[in-house]
Amino acid sequence: MFAMFKIIISLSALFAIINGALISVADFGSNPSGLKMSIYVPSKISENPAVIVALHGCGGTGQQYYQMTKYPSLADTNGFLVIYPSAPHDSNCWDVASTRSLSRDGGGDSNGLANMIKYTIATYKADPKKVFVTGTSSGGMMTNVMCAVYPDMVAAGSVYSGVPAGCLAGSPGSSPTSANQDCANGKIVKTQAQWVAQVKAMYPGYSGTYPKMQIWHGTADSFVNYNQNFGEQIKEWSGLLGVSFVKNNTNTPQSGYTQMTYGDGTKLVAYSAAGVGHTVPVHETVDLKWFGLT
Ligand SMILES: *[C@@H]1O[C@H](CO)[C@@H](O)[C@H](O)[C@H]1NC(C)=O
Repeated sequence: MFAMFKIIISLSALFAIINGALISVADFGSNPSGLKMSIYVPSKISENPAVIVALHGCGGTGQQYYQMTKYPSLADTNGFLVIYPSAPHDSNCWDVASTRSLSRDGGGDSNGLANMIKYTIATYKADPKKVFVTGTSSGGMMTNVMCAVYPDMVAAGSVYSGVPAGCLAGSPGSSPTSANQDCANGKIVKTQAQWVAQVKAMYPGYSGTYPKMQIWHGTADSFVNYNQNFGEQIKEWSGLLGVSFVKNNTNTPQSGYTQMTYGDGTKLVAYSAAGVGHTVPVHETVDLKWFGLT
């Protein structure tokens, strides 16, 4: 009976692979905070494919972010995999506040997401050096956290309308109703050395490099304060990556956006979107280029 059930499941999984589909994964390993995992498997997977983890905002689901983003159709032509996880707690916001989530293998949401990545590498023989994380709003905040807590597992991040890793540390929750609003309101300001020390303490003893980072924020964001949160994220990552501001390119990649380049432009780039509110629309093709996939 059970064997029969398993055959049906693998047949349907095979069918999904032929067509390119979003598949739910019930068991991806230890899942201490009860996350849900879906993965988009394209019609034609590359050999040792790249993996993008795409994180929804508060109130969202992986299924919804899958429908909102163009990564699936790009995966069909490019052959990478896209993990679309869901955060089922705290108004479906990612936990970017608790010590559990802000510590390496600490038993929080970041731990469950890391296990989804490990499962995907093992199941699809994905390239462990080509794992990328991106997300919008709460998903952007969690992208910062994943890049801070699992820097050895993530090659690059692209953050839409987020806050620095650690900005909500100690807050009772991570949602608009449960969180201490100081971070979103731009009241958490630290020195670069303080941000760097806070991130390093999330994975004590780690001495390797940090993921390359791309940061998007709209100047008219009235929900997650532009001035501080954009600026503090840049402060944090330019410190971790050891780069400083070099130049602005206006109207890049589109009218009204300013591309801010740090160092030689291979480790940190930020996009300030004039007049854009919460949240900046996802720029999938710019992300893929940043991830080195196109
Ligand atoms: C670069 O662009 C940002 C965002 O528009 C702006 O805040 C900053 O002042 C610019 N820097 C220079 C040197 O022009």
